[in-house]
Amino acid sequence: MSDSISRYTTANGAPVPHDDISVTAGERGPLTFDNWRLFEKLAHFNREQIPERVVHARGSAAFGTFRLTRDLSDLTIADFLRGVGRETPVVARFSTVAGGQDSADNLRDVRGFSLKFYTEEGNWDMVGNNTPVFFIREPSKFPDFIHTQKKDPRSNLVNWQNRWEFWANHPQSFHQVTILLSDRGIPYSYRHMNGYSSHTLSLYNAQGERAWVKWHFKTNQGIRNLTDEQAETVGTDHHQRDLFRSIEQGDFPSWTVKLQVMTEEQARHYHINPFDLTKVWPHADFPLMEIGQLELNRNPDNYFAQVEQLAFSPSNFVPGISGSPDRVLQSRLWSYADAHRYRLTVNYQQIEVNRPRCPVSNYQRDGLMAAAAPLGEAREGGQYASTNFYPNDRAVEGAPVPDAMVAEPPMPLEQDAWVGYHDNRDEDNFSQAGELYRLFDESQRERLARVFATTLQDVTASVCQRVIAQCYAADSDYGRRVEQAWRTGADESDAAEQTLNNF
Ligand code: HEM
Repeated sequence: MSDSISRYTTANGAPVPHDDISVTAGERGPLTFDNWRLFEKLAHFNREQIPERVVHARGSAAFGTFRLTRDLSDLTIADFLRGVGRETPVVARFSTVAGGQDSADNLRDVRGFSLKFYTEEGNWDMVGNNTPVFFIREPSKFPDFIHTQKKDPRSNLVNWQNRWEFWANHPQSFHQVTILLSDRGIPYSYRHMNGYSSHTLSLYNAQGERAWVKWHFKTNQGIRNLTDEQAETVGTDHHQRDLFRSIEQGDFPSWTVKLQVMTEEQARHYHINPFDLTKVWPHADFPLMEIGQLELNRNPDNYFAQVEQLAFSPSNFVPGISGSPDRVLQSRLWSYADAHRYRLTVNYQQIEVNRPRCPVSNYQRDGLMAAAAPLGEAREGGQYASTNFYPNDRAVEGAPVPDAMVAEPPMPLEQDAWVGYHDNRDEDNFSQAGELYRLFDESQRERLARVFATTLQDVTASVCQRVIAQCYAADSDYGRRVEQAWRTGADESDAAEQTLNNF
């Protein structure tokens, strides 16, 4: 065989003589038991799939670079946020939320906007969305919420009754519902949408001072959306194709990265709870500060290895970046790593796309699929220490020791705070939705009302009435318009006759 042709092998590396024919007992006879190559092939095929993500299962990813344009040493010790011009490799994954892996890109849904920054002091994951707020401020509602967005357990179909029933019973969702049903509910492509941390995160500096921050990624391609009618014409793979093709053609998408910053003192007195995920911080009070550019310029080589196995976690912080008292964020700090351990095993951070680009030195050992096996001696800058316990006397041999300098400042708590069930369900759910509505022009308001009417078409009257009451609570024109559109639609489809059994 010529040198330029690579030999086909089995998984153990042994060359394969044939792959189109199996070993049989005679020309017309059955298989024999020594068809181990065939059995390996069939067995591997049976195991090609892993559980898909429980949410955000359908997505696209690309690699690129974050370039810092403003030094942030005054705010943070984060290594990659200091020194203008500093470049950090990143991988981004965009996704829809509700649909499974084989659903469609062109649906009305929130879009995930996740970034992994491979910094020299560990991976920082910014796991956000294309909207600055979220449906809930109470994390225990997440599984209920997602159940209503996914397929109905009986019909296996998307069910707007379930969706609206959740929203009717959770006015805290209304701000995000207004965004979802507005023009921004179906982005034209992943390149034409903004990203947001949505949550309040924090930065802390060398003096131990913490500032609350919200991250914004403003598309340099311009915001572009699809109406429901346009979405039907672009095809179900449109977002994947658009991202992949534009990068293949050298038309690299980019985003301008900005921060909103609030001091601890400002947070104490601000009239909006800065840790309420259903609220934005008005730009007039907290202006956007430009800090960098994000560019995506390389497609993955292998979708399964680099996208399906790509694992983000809001708990992947680096020194200088931390969380906040936002309850939803705190649940997420636990939830994602748990999901990855289930989907990808306990050693998911050793998979190439998730692996930090800096040395990983600790005393965690072994477990399913351990690939970075400690070999009993220090290697490559002390990456693998010979000991598996701490403390020990081996620091001079490269055994890792903690660095107290990276400790984050203590998280403030309210004075005299009581541990217990604190109900914040009724905390102003409508003002910001009303403010947003009043920014819409006439045609945007009309389209919004139409989307309400269409999706409420087969929904019980009692749910519709609660939803319309929420629109009125946000803005009287909003309520009037949605009610009118709904009544017109209801007359047409005789929706008054609809029952809960509306599949
Ligand atoms: C209590 C609230 C939440 C819980 C429990 C939760 C949980 C999860 C879980 C388990 C996954 C799948 C992870 C995986 O298997 O890879 C996921 C994915 C994701 N979530 Fe959440 N989530 C919550 C809220 C949010 C919020 C508020 C945002 C955005 C601000 C968000 C953005 C995302 C994104 C972008 C992904 C996909 C990550 C990727 O591209 O792989 N989630 N979430």
